[in-house]
Amino acid sequence: MRRKLVAGNWKMHGLRSQLSEVEAVAQAAAAHPEVDVALCVPFTLIAAAVDRAGALPIGAQDVHENERGAHTGCVSAEMLHEAGATLVIVGHSERRADQNETSHDAWAKAAAARRAGLQVILCCGETEAEHNAGRAERIVQSQIEKSLPDGASPEWLTVAYEPRWAIGTGRTPSLDQIESIHAILRAKLRMMVGDAAEGIRILYGGSVTGDNAEAILAVDNVDGALVGGASLTAQKFVPIIEAAARASAAKG
Ligand code: 13P
Repeated sequence: MRRKLVAGNWKMHGLRSQLSEVEAVAQAAAAHPEVDVALCVPFTLIAAAVDRAGALPIGAQDVHENERGAHTGCVSAEMLHEAGATLVIVGHSERRADQNETSHDAWAKAAAARRAGLQVILCCGETEAEHNAGRAERIVQSQIEKSLPDGASPEWLTVAYEPRWAIGTGRTPSLDQIESIHAILRAKLRMMVGDAAEGIRILYGGSVTGDNAEAILAVDNVDGALVGGASLTAQKFVPIIEAAARASAAKG
């Protein structure tokens, strides 16, 4: 059975004064050993967050595809690893939109992260226009086709479905829509990696809160959540961890 993973993505939020939230989340995570929890913080907070996080995995939100070189402002996977990060998000729709990143970039970044021993959360998801045009299925299939790294396996890879129009908007797809896209992603993974696909977790992300998490996490093939806004405080994030624990018990 796939263990639920609840991962927070702080995006461009967080100063040292917010590190007490990391501690509080770490405590809640320790109280729910049946659920995996992680926090992806800004580069500048990784080392300090690791110091305060105990057993809670701390991750980054981007990585450069090269090991080193003349890439001003960029951070390599080895640097993240040395700072204490154990995972990294690649292919997030905000980076696709703001930094023109492609699925091929996500593929190269995932491979670089893997080489440095990092876990990877690989994101996919359609825009609102694509959603309205009924193209969501095609879009996520094509993104996974182009970005799934070689040797993808549950030991180091997680996929996240994040419809762009649901991010930060308070809107979510219906549970049926989530189920249908996650089933399509599972089938795509099966085609690409065979049996290993059964163990690869597929997270849902986009306006997940303590109020909707339990229902979303009960959907078939939803193996966890990637949480933005509601991960910034333990007060909002811990109820999502608790919902994941209940969803695991219900499936148990
Ligand atoms: P919100 O939870 O703020 O909608 O963000 C989702 C997200 O983009 C996580 O990566």
